[in-house]
Amino acid sequence: MLLTTAIDYTNGKPHIGHAYEKILTDVLARYQRLSGNPVFFLTGVDQHGQKVEQTAAKEGETPAAYVERITAGFLALWEKTGVHYDGWAATTDPRHKHCVQDILTDLKDKGELYKKAYSGFYSVRQEQFLTDRDRDEQGNFGPEWGEVVEIQEENWYFRLSAHTSWLQEFLEKNDAILPTFRKAELTNAIARNTSLDLCISRPKARMSWGIEIPFDPDYVTYVWFDALINYISFVGYGGKESTFPDFATTWQNVVHVIGKDIMVPAHGIYWYCMLHAMGFTDAQMPRLLVHGWWNIRGEKMSKSLGNIVDPNELADRFGTDALRYYLCRDIVIGRDSDFDVERLVMLFNTELANELGNLCNRALNMSQRFTAGVLHCYQPLQEEDHTLQQSLTDSHKNYRDAMENFDVAKALEALNRHVVNCNIYAERMKPWEMNKNPDNKERVATVLYHLAESVAHCAVMLSPVLPDAAAKLAAQIDLPGLLENKLPDLTWGMLPNGHTIQKPSPVFPRIVIEA
Ligand code: MSP
Repeated sequence: MLLTTAIDYTNGKPHIGHAYEKILTDVLARYQRLSGNPVFFLTGVDQHGQKVEQTAAKEGETPAAYVERITAGFLALWEKTGVHYDGWAATTDPRHKHCVQDILTDLKDKGELYKKAYSGFYSVRQEQFLTDRDRDEQGNFGPEWGEVVEIQEENWYFRLSAHTSWLQEFLEKNDAILPTFRKAELTNAIARNTSLDLCISRPKARMSWGIEIPFDPDYVTYVWFDALINYISFVGYGGKESTFPDFATTWQNVVHVIGKDIMVPAHGIYWYCMLHAMGFTDAQMPRLLVHGWWNIRGEKMSKSLGNIVDPNELADRFGTDALRYYLCRDIVIGRDSDFDVERLVMLFNTELANELGNLCNRALNMSQRFTAGVLHCYQPLQEEDHTLQQSLTDSHKNYRDAMENFDVAKALEALNRHVVNCNIYAERMKPWEMNKNPDNKERVATVLYHLAESVAHCAVMLSPVLPDAAAKLAAQIDLPGLLENKLPDLTWGMLPNGHTIQKPSPVFPRIVIEA
């Protein structure tokens, strides 16, 4: 599987939306590995375009120096938050530039590009020409377009319209858009736009921070055309770069993780048509996993509202585990969610510090005290033991079904259900009471075995979301290679009789907020 994220604009610092998408994709990539599937995870930064050029000018820097500085901030954040990618796509990379230029030349040779003069309205903020369809009910261009200017210029166009009927058919036949409820929005947009071609150049006289059009040096490439190509250039498309992976092996089962704002038109229309024009077959087309937005009290985060949530600050204040857990747990895939720091703390304290933390502490602590850390499962089992084992089987199944549908929140819910069941089992069995009678020694050991075995499974299932915490849990369980297990091989009874576990040390210290 090839998993990619959108590449983030380098015209400002990373915010919580950027962090969500990268962490979500990191979790999905780790899950694929845990399932035994080969996966390549590509992410990066979108460094060209007018916005970057303008912001750099405002900051009194050259665009190159500016993007280098901003890119360093993104890299540091992914390092801090445990986002482990296999490929880094930075669009000023000369290897990407060569690939974009080769594609442009090839498309021109195939008759997919043409030059024409156009006069019309242009949104400086969105870096695109506008049509009457972009006007609001009063006939004006709304504030979302920012400054709108009338310009006349010659440019290069891509024959998008030659591919839209293929695209409609492709979308009808394939479940390429995930979750499926997003598909209608895309097919409606295509139906409204069948006859428009895409302007893919900008005259250098107006904007020069981009990739030069190889056959017309007075122009640079439109930022979206350049940016979308990152998905293939950085995995070896064209085969010219020995530093990239092999394209044919990497471009398999491709899923682009993107936000809902960039499905129409960029990914859902331009990108599919670009790939089709390049000669990609239907079977080679990517799927789009379209996620929702993190808002603040129902409102969009924006610089002008001053409500931008900084993931760096959150990670410093609450730790990376709390941040990763919250961003995966408190949003339904495809839907929007409200960012709420109190829920971040509440979810960490309830599900991790209290429930999972309590389970680990009980299992490991009582094993130390009652059986000197040595585990043993004695037969015959009681009904409650079978029920607990069934709870784990159900949890595994629900976890995997949810993850296969990219629904990380639901997968965590399934994991949490087993943790809750373990704590209920412990309350019922009361090994601390039973241990008072030496005749119960074997039964106490069996109950503790069930709790410790559950902790081992929970560590594996938690590992895509919280790899560091899972590693700490695994170290306490002390079973060599525990986290190298592949999910399909996980069955009850991983811990052999006689296995000794380590002393507990807290993995999820409760977050206390000073009043
Ligand atoms: N550079 C383009 C993407 C090019 S992909 C070939 C871009 N960059 S962006 O920085 O504006 O957004 C990057 C990603 O973050 C997008 O998928 C976008 O949807 C996502 N998010 C931006 N704000 C967001 C939230 N508030 N919440 C969740 N994700 C959001 O678009």
